[in-house]
Amino acid sequence: MNSTADIAVIGGSGLYSLLEGAREVRVDTPYGPPSDTVAVGEVAGRSVAFLPRHGRDHRHPPHRIPYRANLWALRSLGVRQILAPCAVGGLRPDLGPGTFVLPDQLIDRTTGRERTFVESGAVHVNFADPYCPHGRAALDATARATGLALEPTGTMVVIDGPRFSTRAESRWHAATGGTVINMTGAPEAALARELALCYTAIALVTDHDAGVDGDRGVTQDEVFAVFKENTDRMRGLLLAAIARLPAERRCPCPAALDGMHPAYLLP
Ligand code: ADE
Repeated sequence: MNSTADIAVIGGSGLYSLLEGAREVRVDTPYGPPSDTVAVGEVAGRSVAFLPRHGRDHRHPPHRIPYRANLWALRSLGVRQILAPCAVGGLRPDLGPGTFVLPDQLIDRTTGRERTFVESGAVHVNFADPYCPHGRAALDATARATGLALEPTGTMVVIDGPRFSTRAESRWHAATGGTVINMTGAPEAALARELALCYTAIALVTDHDAGVDGDRGVTQDEVFAVFKENTDRMRGLLLAAIARLPAERRCPCPAALDGMHPAYLLP
């Protein structure tokens, strides 16, 4: 069986497998090993890789995920389009547990993570729109076609964690324009752009964040339990959306590195 793929899914909390009959591929990178072996299989005639972001046994906490190795490993297998499911907290009362959100914007509040591949030269990628418009369109169309309720836009705030926010932090994140909040959406999206990959986040709300929840605040148990209840819906959405991803990339993502310093030419 082939061990290359054009599409990848980076599974988040609670989504540790996706493909049936897949082959496990061990990949090494200049940035060390990725979070786990990469499963490579087929969906709707497309060759697809699956990598669990936290590892299959959830051993990597959000601030220790080897983001650079993960993106590099997927690209080295041939991947050019990535779907990135994740669990998020809702920063608005109307976005409760079980809601799907298709973010179109990102606010990166993380610190101290390895956040770039750039070591030298003038390499300043455009990141005004962090997600692939064609990947977003595929997910939106899939949700509509299958009758899945999905909030079609939203700003994802990404914090370091591993703790959840205080109520004041949470209210501040909402006041600065955040719609949902998580701990893994950055630098993953920016690293994908630095490799000229298409990257599309798809978020499942697992809780109301502390500023919205008037009760006890967010707990790990509720996040994992709600994700588990919704894993099949997330899987179904991803598998159906893969069939709608364009075979030819006509979005702006492949041109992300045009005109950049030649020291940064990718292999
Ligand atoms: N992931 C899921 N829920 C979250 C929350 N409320 N804050 C940060 N990350 C989360």
